[in-house]
Amino acid sequence: MGVAARKLELVEPVARFASKPIHMLIGGKWVPSLSGMTFPTYDPSTEEIITQVAEGVKEDIDEAVKAARKAFEDGPWPRMTPSERGRLIWKLADMIEDHLEEFAELETLDNGKPITISRAADVPLAVDLFRYMAGWATKIEGNTIPISVPYAPNTRYLAYTIREPVGVVGQIIPWNFSLLMAAWKLGPALASGCTVVLKPAEQTPLTSLRLGELIMEAGFPEGVVNIVPGYGETAGAALAAHPDVDKVAFTGSTEVGRLILQAAGGNLKKVSLELGGKSPNIIFADADLEVAIPGAANAIFFNHGQCCCAGSRLYVDHRVFDKVVTGVAEHAQRIRLGPGMDPATQMGPLVSREQLHRVCGYLRSGLEEGARAVAGGRRHGDTGYFVEPTVLVDTRPGMKVEEEEIFGPVVSAIPYRNVEEVASAANNTVYGLAAGIWTRDVTTAHRLASRIRAGTVWVNCYNIFDAAMPFGGYKQSGWGREMGHDAIEMYTEKKAVCLPM
Ligand code: NAI
Ligand code: MG
Repeated sequence: MGVAARKLELVEPVARFASKPIHMLIGGKWVPSLSGMTFPTYDPSTEEIITQVAEGVKEDIDEAVKAARKAFEDGPWPRMTPSERGRLIWKLADMIEDHLEEFAELETLDNGKPITISRAADVPLAVDLFRYMAGWATKIEGNTIPISVPYAPNTRYLAYTIREPVGVVGQIIPWNFSLLMAAWKLGPALASGCTVVLKPAEQTPLTSLRLGELIMEAGFPEGVVNIVPGYGETAGAALAAHPDVDKVAFTGSTEVGRLILQAAGGNLKKVSLELGGKSPNIIFADADLEVAIPGAANAIFFNHGQCCCAGSRLYVDHRVFDKVVTGVAEHAQRIRLGPGMDPATQMGPLVSREQLHRVCGYLRSGLEEGARAVAGGRRHGDTGYFVEPTVLVDTRPGMKVEEEEIFGPVVSAIPYRNVEEVASAANNTVYGLAAGIWTRDVTTAHRLASRIRAGTVWVNCYNIFDAAMPFGGYKQSGWGREMGHDAIEMYTEKKAVCLPM
């Protein structure tokens, strides 16, 4: 079955935005790159170029960092009250919501995901994140501390703490949820009073740059948010290594996370990392399979498996293994693949040719090593980066498909005999981002939730996110937590002040 190459109508603002060459945002101005270089961004369902985007490299990053530093030290931003900062962030949320359809189409065009998902998830979650963080701007508090000072017994002291913005922040984001990742990063940074240089992923720069337009329209002072599109090895690496950046926040591969850490060593900037995963999703025999089977399918196939928390290792009690595998495979086979802009599409293409090759490489390696595909197993069509939703069985520990992050619509279903066995198998990974547990027994659920070394454990649900709930990784899945009040801590320094009374 081929993929229909339809020409889809875009809403007028998207057609306009996506047809012009796109510049970068530095110090409140839209400028071409210093070198004049551009790079193409593609529609992954047709492999056609959407438009050219200014390509930032080290020199452009230098300019952006200068602008962010100036805005942090001298601009109106540091003098603004927390309430004013909060109101600006809230206003930005309203503006994104007013442009919901435009952002949804732009995201779908650039990333490939179904328009129904961009509308229902990506954009509303970004709006909600900004609103949640707007509320934090006025609630970043310190403590008063009763200190005793044993060597000064005759003096009483007042001691208190305050939280201050960490400074100029470099933020490097991936392509799987580009607007939403920009929101996760910008929201807490702005609420905390930081200034930012954001580098969107080269595969999906458009929504971040459109967001930059709204940021300026909302009235954020110039230089508070700078956006430099470009490649990771050049623009990203320069940002991570920059001596005048106080913190770098990164979401992407564990491999690049390590490079970020090394680059940050030069000036010992603060680092937060949200990295890969190989998340176990565990179904017990007593689970409500009516819910668990579609739940397991959603855990891996949502966003085409291009989720750091994708439930890519499906552990199933051997007594219900065949039933669950058949059910998940049927789900996989029913998923309607097509261009993201088609409202009937349930799964779009992967984001890029590189990602298509990576995922197909994993499929080949798994099948060669003896795995069997009970659904899917191949590329779909010959135009666009489509891959069939795939369910593998007969995988073994040590096989790449069971150990490495595939980041595509591919799940390994693995039978287990008892809780001990599955608990140790679930933890037998270098990652620790998320896990799922499906059971009617609350004791089993709590016990296992406490044993699994992962930042998020979903019980009888999966892929539930909220701006108020912290998200991040144990082990090689990262450092720090995004969202919730933890995110504010990542963008502030704590200062202790002490004076005699
Ligand atoms: P990546 O880690 O290379 O890219 C993520 C971001 O980092 C992009 O903005 C990229 O330009 C930037 N980057 C790349 N190299 C850099 C460097 N040396 N210094 C600074 N920034 C750099 O991920 P990629 O290549 O797009 O995908 C590879 C694999 O990474 C995927 O198959 C998946 O396993 C994983 N990944 C995980 C994500 C997550 O949400 N945790 C998101 C994207 C990818
Ligand atoms: Mg890469």
